[in-house]
Amino acid sequence: MDTELLERTARELVAPGRGILAADESNGTMSNRLAAVGVEPSSETRRAYRSNIFATSGYQSAISGVILFDETIRQKMSDGTPIPEYLASRGVHPGIKVDTGAKELAHHSGEKITEGLDGLRERCAEYFAMGARFAKWRAVIRIGEGMPSDANLSTNAHALARYAAICQEQGLVPIIEPEVLMDGEHDAQTCYDVTARILDETFAACEVQGVHIPGALLKPNMILPGKSCSDQGNREQAAQLTVDCLTNHVPHNLPGIVFLSGGQSDEDATAHLNLMNGMDVEHPWQLSYSYGRALLAHALQTWASGSNEDSQGAFAHRAAMNSLARTGDWSAELEV
Ligand code: 13P
Repeated sequence: MDTELLERTARELVAPGRGILAADESNGTMSNRLAAVGVEPSSETRRAYRSNIFATSGYQSAISGVILFDETIRQKMSDGTPIPEYLASRGVHPGIKVDTGAKELAHHSGEKITEGLDGLRERCAEYFAMGARFAKWRAVIRIGEGMPSDANLSTNAHALARYAAICQEQGLVPIIEPEVLMDGEHDAQTCYDVTARILDETFAACEVQGVHIPGALLKPNMILPGKSCSDQGNREQAAQLTVDCLTNHVPHNLPGIVFLSGGQSDEDATAHLNLMNGMDVEHPWQLSYSYGRALLAHALQTWASGSNEDSQGAFAHRAAMNSLARTGDWSAELEV
């Protein structure tokens, strides 16, 4: 394991003012998103939309890396440059989603286990040769009646740790993503408790597998009430609960935490991060973003209904707002 390379890549991914763009929707998910804005889904429309985003000028100051899907890492920009080569030439690390999706967990109706360990070593080696320097694996944890089960937590924690170890062996920084979903009526405390459990199990499994924590990143949910909870709290409460949970359940030698947006509005995702980074305490890790929808939802709509330039403008704006949130310097007036 090249710990020096892993640590350097991890630090670069969470460098000051920078965060990650998650553009790794599977073909199915991306096709649904294109269809929802009236665009015929195809390999070419997925390429055209994403390559236009990647060609946005000046976003490198806010974006350190882009997570790609297998189809995209093999595609080219409109001038024929391979996409990973193009991103690297702009100082942006190409990343790759390496899990093969969340499947039904046997004997546990409604719960999922993320698959993709078979052949992972060989796929990581191929992606590294194509220029990828980091990877992502997403586990999905649902809160509900009797959920999450011990089986759901332990199997996903084990898979995340095995994935992380294999990535590191192949030179890729693993982004460890145990996502507690926002769906449901649960309150913020329940989200806190479940997040604490999956974080504890995941880092315990990482220790067993020998994962090098200074060469990894964590991509967690924020601590929020379920979307259908009657008490939605406020942004300050969410920011404080999130920082408390992470401080108590994430190793302090991890270089960075890159949040998912998980269905929050664009502005909530930015405001929550801004509040956390504006606190009068020094956190042990960098607190940054690895947003998908909160960076691109508006850009996608704009691409479908407007011009390539307007779509790039929408993305550049969200990237700049989240970059400011890295230092607590964002404010709502800047959104106008
Ligand atoms: P969202 O920010 O849209 O939740 O996507 C991030 C991601 O990569 C989920 O795996």
